[in-house]
Amino acid sequence: MLSYKELGLVNSKELFAKAVKGGYAIPAFNFNNLEQLQAIIGACVETKSPVILQVSSGARKYANQTLLRHLAKGAVEYAHELGYDIPIVLHLDHGDTFELCKSCIESGFSSVMIDGSHHPYEKNVELTAQVVEYAHKYDVTVEGELGVLAGIEDEVSSEVSHYTKPEEVEDFVKKTGVDSLAISIGTSHGANKFTPDQCTRTEDGILVPPPLRFDILEEIEKRIPGFPIVLHGASSVPVELVKIINSNGGKLKDAVGIPEEQLRRAAASAVCKVNIDSDGRLAMTAAIRKVFNENPAEFDPRKYLGPARDALKELYKHKIINVLGSAGKA
Ligand code: G3H
Ligand code: 13P
Ligand code: ZN
Repeated sequence: MLSYKELGLVNSKELFAKAVKGGYAIPAFNFNNLEQLQAIIGACVETKSPVILQVSSGARKYANQTLLRHLAKGAVEYAHELGYDIPIVLHLDHGDTFELCKSCIESGFSSVMIDGSHHPYEKNVELTAQVVEYAHKYDVTVEGELGVLAGIEDEVSSEVSHYTKPEEVEDFVKKTGVDSLAISIGTSHGANKFTPDQCTRTEDGILVPPPLRFDILEEIEKRIPGFPIVLHGASSVPVELVKIINSNGGKLKDAVGIPEEQLRRAAASAVCKVNIDSDGRLAMTAAIRKVFNENPAEFDPRKYLGPARDALKELYKHKIINVLGSAGKA
């Protein structure tokens, strides 16, 4: 058993309490490699933002759990070396079994998500409560989920969305003891969050998605006032990045995300954790495609991963400063 405290990490409890009170959200950025981690820590230190380093089960397999643990410890030391000790959470994203959550807790994670949202309600309660009971023994925080996010090209999401039922949240929070709750109000995973026929199209061909269901969020907030809410599937899929990708050999069709002004509005509410993965993937891919297209003779990975890292860092700083409002909160 390796406690996250030995790695210099923190759980999310205090960060969420401050974020809910302060009307901002903590960024939860997914990572699985060195350049992403460098970009995340660089951006968060420069903006003095707390951060949640988020690892999916697929990412854990990809990067190797032992390396990940050392990377997270390294992230704490790297921030210190850059000149500012920001609070860093290492979080399991979309944990699907008790065993996976337990294994992450034992290898240094300070926070886990148990995503029982695909199960019937009672099974979700039972599984989530089991993870909470174990995690809390080690001071590890737990995120649960109610409601299912839709998503078109992502293995973690369903074909259709099922919005969170506000009438279930009080009971779920009480019975499970979770520390935060992911909800479904119209976001979804991946770069194709909506089909074109769900959107309207502007004169210059840009797809505009249907607005998030702030009425559901408000109803949830009324029932569990001040309780930390999490928004998954919160990438904006910037049009400029899609254009760079497609003009350098890519083929992303009908990619559309959540407009940033809606995320700003959510961050000012009880939403205190916003999950962003796809926008980072797009920023890296755009930078790499550009190098490959403009300089086909290049074969030193640092020459394309370096620009990708720089682009990622700029994207993260933008999210922190202009969307989530977490700059200066570390
Ligand atoms: O919500 C899911 C994240 O974007 C992680 O995706 O399972 O492909 O690592 P992944
Ligand atoms: P995006 O695909 O919108 O970046 O969402 C990521 C996410 O929710 C990770 O859990
Ligand atoms: Zn998610």
